[in-house]
Amino acid sequence: MSILIVRGGTKLEGEICAQGSKNAALPILAASLLCGRTVRLTNVPRLSDVANMTAILCQLGCVIQQDGDALTIDSSRLTTCVLPERLSKEMRSSIFLLGSVLGRLKEAVATYPGGCEIGNRPIDLHLQGLKRLGAEIHEDGGRIRIKGGRLKGAVVQLDYPSVGATENVMLAACSAHGETVVQNAAREPEIVALQDFLNAAGYHVNGAGTSTVVIRGGGTPHELEYRIMPDRIAAGTLLTAGAISGGNVRVTGISPDMLSAVVDKLVATGCKVSSEPDSIALIAPERPKELERMDTLPYPGLPTDMQAQFFSLCQVADGTSVIVENVFENRFKHAQELRIMGGKNVIYGRTAVIRGVDKLFGAKVTARDLRGGAALVLAGLRAEGVTVVEQAEIIDRGYEALEEQLNSLGASIERKDN
Ligand code: EPZ
Repeated sequence: MSILIVRGGTKLEGEICAQGSKNAALPILAASLLCGRTVRLTNVPRLSDVANMTAILCQLGCVIQQDGDALTIDSSRLTTCVLPERLSKEMRSSIFLLGSVLGRLKEAVATYPGGCEIGNRPIDLHLQGLKRLGAEIHEDGGRIRIKGGRLKGAVVQLDYPSVGATENVMLAACSAHGETVVQNAAREPEIVALQDFLNAAGYHVNGAGTSTVVIRGGGTPHELEYRIMPDRIAAGTLLTAGAISGGNVRVTGISPDMLSAVVDKLVATGCKVSSEPDSIALIAPERPKELERMDTLPYPGLPTDMQAQFFSLCQVADGTSVIVENVFENRFKHAQELRIMGGKNVIYGRTAVIRGVDKLFGAKVTARDLRGGAALVLAGLRAEGVTVVEQAEIIDRGYEALEEQLNSLGASIERKDN
């Protein structure tokens, strides 16, 4: 288990480059398996979720080499269509692999990924989408066997703009006969990145970033090199760290367009934000103003993956804030941890009422999920005294050594592994 020891009270100052995107890298790793060729990915973030995904690809028969932030994946010889149970359970986003394994091998076997810290995480929309393409789905106990000998293009209407379901259908549709139209598709930038990768690999996908994605089945996949886009959530987390510490930070290598909802809310708390085409600079007030109301929504709305970080910021605001978590049903576990630090907040279902306090006090707290854990580190930056964040390995799922990133901006955080 790892812990992060955060000494509070420093204003963050300086410039840092955004890491590669976890939520772009994972579906693109799944897509690399679809190509059956050698694919070289660069700017791949060094995260435990990425390591997990590459381990699953290797168990499926891929040969993977890593050099620095580059991964070379040869998926020409797959040996099985069965996703390894333990690794798949550890990372629910392995479910993206269903679409690409099915596309390659005409069959896929997976274990229900089950819920996780932030909610039940069902996969009904994934399975409905694959069924619309003609896949036969057999479920027994916790295992799913999907057969898709001849997938046929179809109109897939998603009941909810699910990111994962959109990506899974895009991947399976690349191998279907005919055209697939995904309606009510998720519009996240990571979907656009997946489309860019697939087209660069020789497939035919259009419309990503809008609610209608069109995939023309077939295509002649070929070898390629592809650079993973920057992580907008990691960038937003660093900006919010600058905000909560009353500091002055610039995040480079990130397009402000991907973070407009986040920037709007940071400005609403009193931060001065200026943008260049590939960087965002923030100067924070001594104490943030409250957010009268913040709703998490599918893109381009305020990302649910930034909710916890804003929660910590609001916890030290000069007023009472309301945050509504519309995307996941159980994503306020950081609230109780902030109360241990002296925060005042009440949770009513999907609504949090956060009464800003003058001061948080360093304490021993526990990371319960990825973004909640990062939010506790941010709270520790502001707190008086020392905050110990336990289960910090959960934070490593989505951040490349968050302590090193923050220390490069003047924070004082020490990691201890035991
Ligand atoms: C992706 O998860 C991201 N993960 C999540 O990031 C992110 O929070 C989420 O999209 C929303 O933006 C990756 O990209 C690897 P969804 P995903 O399907 O695809 C419900 C992080 O911290 N739903 O858009 O699982 C679901 O329960 C992680 O980086 C169904 O009901 O999200 C949730 O309430 C956390 N049935 C809502 O949709 C389904 O079949 C959004 O889920 C699928 C989803």
